[in-house]
Amino acid sequence: MQFYLAPMEGITGYIYRNAYRDFFGDIDKYFTPFIAATSHKGLKSRELRDVLPENNEGIEVVPQILTNNATDFITTVDKLKQFGYKEVNLNLGCPSGTVVSKFKGSGFLAKREMLDEFLAEIFDRCDIKISLKTRLGKDSPDEFYELINIFNKYPMEELIIHPRVQKDYYKNTPNMAVFADAMKLSTNRVCYNGNIFKKDDYDKLVSDYKELDRVMIGRGIIGNPKLVNDIKTGDYTLDKDTLRSFHDRVFGDYYELLQDQRSVVFKMKEMWFYMGAMFEDADKYLKKIRKANTRGDYEAAVNQIFRELTLNPANGFYFG
Ligand SMILES: Cc1cc2nc3c(=O)[nH]c(=O)nc-3n(C[C@H](O)[C@H](O)[C@H](O)COP(=O)(O)O)c2cc1C
Repeated sequence: MQFYLAPMEGITGYIYRNAYRDFFGDIDKYFTPFIAATSHKGLKSRELRDVLPENNEGIEVVPQILTNNATDFITTVDKLKQFGYKEVNLNLGCPSGTVVSKFKGSGFLAKREMLDEFLAEIFDRCDIKISLKTRLGKDSPDEFYELINIFNKYPMEELIIHPRVQKDYYKNTPNMAVFADAMKLSTNRVCYNGNIFKKDDYDKLVSDYKELDRVMIGRGIIGNPKLVNDIKTGDYTLDKDTLRSFHDRVFGDYYELLQDQRSVVFKMKEMWFYMGAMFEDADKYLKKIRKANTRGDYEAAVNQIFRELTLNPANGFYFG
């Protein structure tokens, strides 16, 4: 089985990726949060930092691109090729209103003729591996049956399926009936993504889909960074010192980069949204983290959590 770290804007950038690799390191491919393709020569500084080879040494990184414009996609691929990238991923899943209204991300799934033409052009003109990360459709999972006929026309590296539609955002449960059909209908290799939060979720998935050989995990890993190891070994222990050191590494690297306590605290809060669930009876402690705006308040709240609470990864983050 291959394990992929899902792209999560604001969380799984190179700082998290490097710390994760050094502390846990059991991921086969790391997907970057999306790069919004443009016709400009350069990448935005945040996007550039995320893909610079010196920020990703020894890590298998796949940059993700968000666009519905083939020329912009190809321009972005050319920029990424200069850094040595041999594979990119197309975002057909982003549910955010501003993206969808421009027919990008999962909004592109509603424009199937346009999508087909776009894919024809990029697969014809790019000499780089391309994978897709898609939802089942924009409005209805039934759209998938039309989409798969389009996807099957192109020799992609893999088809990563998050079996929800746009309006689900990250709620409701993945539609496993349509995913089962996708496994049968896709002529490309399929990777599953969605709601793997515990070893049990993974075990059920692989017992239902014996031919599945790749999964992508997002929130489950942020919630418990040792999850993939739990899955592989059945050992759920995670000692507080390791988690604390991992936390401190991420915090320190953000601080070095951003040099602004409010921005760093804001970034860390996004991690705690998922990670907090591992601590027992953490609500009032997590509230202190949510309210913190200064480094001092934040560190005091974190120190208290690590000092006073029991870490129980089996509690874990669960959603949907
Ligand atoms: C905060 C957040 C940011 C995300 N950013 C991206 C992104 O940049 N690109 C993308 O394809 N998916 C993005 N996703 C979706 C995840 O990659 C993944 O498909 C989704 O969370 C379902 O998988 P999970 O249940 O394992 O988390 C994001 C999800 C969240 C919650």
